[in-house]
Amino acid sequence: MRMVDLIEKKQHGLALTKDEIYYMVNGFTDGTVPDYQMSAMAMAIYFKDMSDVERSYLTMAMVESGDQIDLSAINGVKVDKHSTGGVGDTTTLVLASMVASLGVPVAKMSGRGLGHTGGTLDKLEAIPGFKIEIGMDDFIKLVNENQIAVVGQTGNLTPADKKIYALRDVTSTVQSLPLIASSIMSKKIASGADAIVLDVKVGDGAFMKTPEAAEELAHAMVRIGKQVDRQVMAVISDMNQPLGVAVGNTLEVIEAIETLKGEGPEDLMELCLTLGSQMVVLAGKAQTIEEARQMLQENIDNGKALAKFQQFVQNQGGNPEVVNDYSLMPQASIQQMVNAPKSGVVTGFDCENIGIAAMWLGAGRATKDSEIDLGVGLKILKKIGDTVEAGEPLVEVYSSKEDINNVEKLLLESIHIGEEAVINPLIHKIITE
Ligand code: URA
Ligand code: CA
Repeated sequence: MRMVDLIEKKQHGLALTKDEIYYMVNGFTDGTVPDYQMSAMAMAIYFKDMSDVERSYLTMAMVESGDQIDLSAINGVKVDKHSTGGVGDTTTLVLASMVASLGVPVAKMSGRGLGHTGGTLDKLEAIPGFKIEIGMDDFIKLVNENQIAVVGQTGNLTPADKKIYALRDVTSTVQSLPLIASSIMSKKIASGADAIVLDVKVGDGAFMKTPEAAEELAHAMVRIGKQVDRQVMAVISDMNQPLGVAVGNTLEVIEAIETLKGEGPEDLMELCLTLGSQMVVLAGKAQTIEEARQMLQENIDNGKALAKFQQFVQNQGGNPEVVNDYSLMPQASIQQMVNAPKSGVVTGFDCENIGIAAMWLGAGRATKDSEIDLGVGLKILKKIGDTVEAGEPLVEVYSSKEDINNVEKLLLESIHIGEEAVINPLIHKIITE
């Protein structure tokens, strides 16, 4: 087999076979297929697309390029949730505790934040003592005993995806639907999930900026799941404004705890109930979405979801008292208000910039090696559709330095005040095929 022939085949829009896709992925991973040929192939795929079957071979070739987490020692259906990344998205902390409180095993591998989006591991590290590095045996034991554990990524998962993504990044082929869908799915499948609920974000703060693009990606991933015998469904949720109120690590842990107490922001609670009920049904713990939703709401109301979170924190070395005393977590030294320059209605956000403003404060990373400041961040006090008076606070800034001029300027440029707002639904669509 010669890579040049495969490039030519794809150039003409023909489908590659399973053997051809494995040859290409394995060759590129071990270095026998050079960068220039893989770049040409990525560009050919960018223009000519891949069929559902090709996409599933590509996904599995990337899964098989490295270690695969074996969760078979965990009892029950392992359901994972994946978000395509947003601003102030505290969902995992709430959702994991909620569904685990109903006996659904949550064995979650999480990552760190980069750029304008945050990561669950960083948030968990705001809890004093919390350890994200636990061995695989302990991880499995914790999930079997308590239904919940979260670890940092271990092992050499999907090296082919890492290498291909790096190449796409410098050849303008990141924005290729078949490549995005197989990249995301390969990582989830390698992490050992039986069933996957995808939270595909759409809007200015998301990877997919339009509902059409988000829907297409959701369908692509659900179909890959079908091809490789994993149950997959997707919720398309709005990211035209930050989720909830808090953006930043300690602030988002507090927001998650408040939500588990039933006192969190409405949008965050709604998204968690929507994603959670899908997970509970996929795990076979309820027959219908309505039943699952009711069960989840019950465990918020009776405190079981919060108790599960507390137990989870304690099991991983964290101080469970954080749920009663938020001052145990790192705090910002200075709080300042950014006020509305005029009266009107909040009509929209440049949502990505809100994430960037939080990053400038130190809540997120500009590069993989940046240090983060867990205590800092933003509270978004006005959301789309809210009326404001000139001089009224729009955002509360939690910082470790007095001078926040650049952050304030970016926030004011990124929050639009006008006369009438169009309010997007939080849940755009649910995609099951
Ligand atoms: N996120 C991923 O994990 N992979 C892509 O290709 C794009 C976004
Ligand atoms: Ca939030």
